[in-house]
Amino acid sequence: MDMETLSFEQQGTIGILKVNRPKALNALNAQVLTELEGFFDAFPKGLRCLIITGEGEKAFVAGADIKEMESSTPDQAHKQAQRGQALFDRIETCRVPVIAAVNGFALGGGFELALACDFIVASQNAKFGLPEVSLGLIPGYGGTQRLGRAIGKGKARFVTLTGDIYSAEQAYAWGVVVKVVPPAQLLSECLQIAEKIAARSPAALSLAKRAIHEGFDGNQWEALKLEAELFADTFRTKDHSEGIKAFIEKRAPRFTGE
Ligand code: CAA
Repeated sequence: MDMETLSFEQQGTIGILKVNRPKALNALNAQVLTELEGFFDAFPKGLRCLIITGEGEKAFVAGADIKEMESSTPDQAHKQAQRGQALFDRIETCRVPVIAAVNGFALGGGFELALACDFIVASQNAKFGLPEVSLGLIPGYGGTQRLGRAIGKGKARFVTLTGDIYSAEQAYAWGVVVKVVPPAQLLSECLQIAEKIAARSPAALSLAKRAIHEGFDGNQWEALKLEAELFADTFRTKDHSEGIKAFIEKRAPRFTGE
């Protein structure tokens, strides 16, 4: 697939997807959304972990493209939010784990993109925020919901209502970032984590993601029922026989994802 605003590199079973509009701080214009949709439509075969990051040293993604929104009508804005939300839902429910490698500004839609990933690793120069209220807007790609679920409602209200930009350390202290590393080590750190994940059972990873995601907002009784069903589903996979056999034979498992 030809992509102008994204670049993709595959290293074995690990993919690195970069939003590539550094002159606009990788802002998400309609073309980026289209290309991201196309990427997930034709998700690369054999991938076991995906890293999403931004091109250049300054930004992960500085939000939705503000210039493109200048003349939007309320109806167009509604459709834009629904489109961004659907795309970010696809990222959150992707069968393969997705790591956000935040290398600079992750603002508005950029923070929302990172929040849709399974977890966030940040460089020391990363900056997080939902500055939409400074523009007379509110977050529209899931930020009003995913941030509260990640750090709690009170802190999410603080971030959303101040519209300020916060450091990587602050985001780590809030618990929305799992690790902060020097900028030069961000990609290698994410690759190391991705390699670890890629060695696990792809079938189990996808079922674990479903158990966490689908169970999280329901009541615990229902969520535990789902967990038990998905636990049983692992016993329908070849990966589970291989994992258990490899443990007993004291060797590394060879998972196929089947
Ligand atoms: N949309 C479009 N263009 C953007 C952009 C965005 N979100 N963010 C930055 N750019 C562009 C700038 O316009 C500038 O372009 P020109 O050189 O053509 O003028 C270029 O990127 C470089 O940016 P700055 O010169 O502003 O760089 P800076 O270092 O002075 O400031 C910044 C960096 C603080 C991130 C600043 O660019 C900024 O505030 N950007 C906007 C952040 C923002 O408000 N994001 C939320 C967008 S709304 C949203 O995302 C809604 C939603 O929930 C879906």
